[in-house]
Amino acid sequence: MKRSIQHPASSIQVNLGDRSYGIIFGDSHRTIKPHLYRDACIITDKNVAKYHLRPWEELFPLAQTMILPAGEKTKSMKTMSLVYDFLAQIGFGRDHLIIALGGGVVGDIAGFAAATYMRGVEYIQIPTTLLAMVDASIGGKTGVDLTLGKNLVGAFHQPKAVLVDFNYLKTLPRREWNNGLGEIYKYALLTGEIELSQIPLQFDYRQRAFSKNYSKIVRFCAQYKAGLVSQDERDVGGIRMVLNLGHTFGHAFEAGAGFKALKHGEAVVLGLMGAVFISYKRNLLNKKTFDKIIDELSKFNIPKITRVFQFMELLTYILRDKKTASHNFRMVLLKDIGKPIVVHDIIVREFRKACGFISNTFGIETKD
Ligand code: GLY
Repeated sequence: MKRSIQHPASSIQVNLGDRSYGIIFGDSHRTIKPHLYRDACIITDKNVAKYHLRPWEELFPLAQTMILPAGEKTKSMKTMSLVYDFLAQIGFGRDHLIIALGGGVVGDIAGFAAATYMRGVEYIQIPTTLLAMVDASIGGKTGVDLTLGKNLVGAFHQPKAVLVDFNYLKTLPRREWNNGLGEIYKYALLTGEIELSQIPLQFDYRQRAFSKNYSKIVRFCAQYKAGLVSQDERDVGGIRMVLNLGHTFGHAFEAGAGFKALKHGEAVVLGLMGAVFISYKRNLLNKKTFDKIIDELSKFNIPKITRVFQFMELLTYILRDKKTASHNFRMVLLKDIGKPIVVHDIIVREFRKACGFISNTFGIETKD
């Protein structure tokens, strides 16, 4: 049976032929029609389950739920093995649905399980964090980290729908807001939307009640990403690649900090600084624009990192990063705000200087 999740015209469409789907805004519980599926497996984490699991268990009364520990450390092959065993134990079949209820980690694990269990089953993404709403839940990238690097094992597998429900943000802790704001600032640099660049700077956790403004921002970022994914689903045409602005250094610092001390969006802030630094040093960005971006990035709330990084270790992560490794020293830079470019000739000296600049700005100790 070909199942399709109906969605209103106001939703955003990811156009991928027979793999097309909607990013649907609104009350997520009303969007999905449980009768389309014989049964479901809900994959979530401990923090999300506490607040948001029950309505989904009521909607799918026969669903089995797997609750994972929260945090990037969970995104491992070890967890995948437990998820596969769980699916097999509950008799999960091809006419069942995986529901990924959570942030980027849950989405990546549940999506990878959907991509690989029984050679592929259907799943939906219900992002509960700001970061997952603007980025991770869209575009079908799924997978896990290895100790040697982030997202090194994975698959492209598009969800049947992404349900964006702003109510989930009401329980989002402060640090998770910062995590999402880092990615939102990346979108500001990519698109040149000045208003967007001010959001992270003006954010006040005490007044975080979700306003129309935020819904506009999430829609804008989702629309932008949906457009890139629709043109370059498998990230091979250099179009989707721009979304990795800030991720070369970001992934290296995130992995170097053991996937614990830095959250992904925080690491992206460090990474954006590195990309902007190299862009300036290559005379792509003028001094005024460089100063403005660095000033804004310095205002992000980045936790104190006590670990001393070795440059060679960071370089190893950078070179192992699939975005770099497959295309020798490839990286996304900026020609101007709103004008990303992909370059293929970064040299180690530039990585080294940029790591030094990032470390000095954020008080991180990096040794040669
Ligand atoms: N987060 C980058 C991408 O989905 O391509």
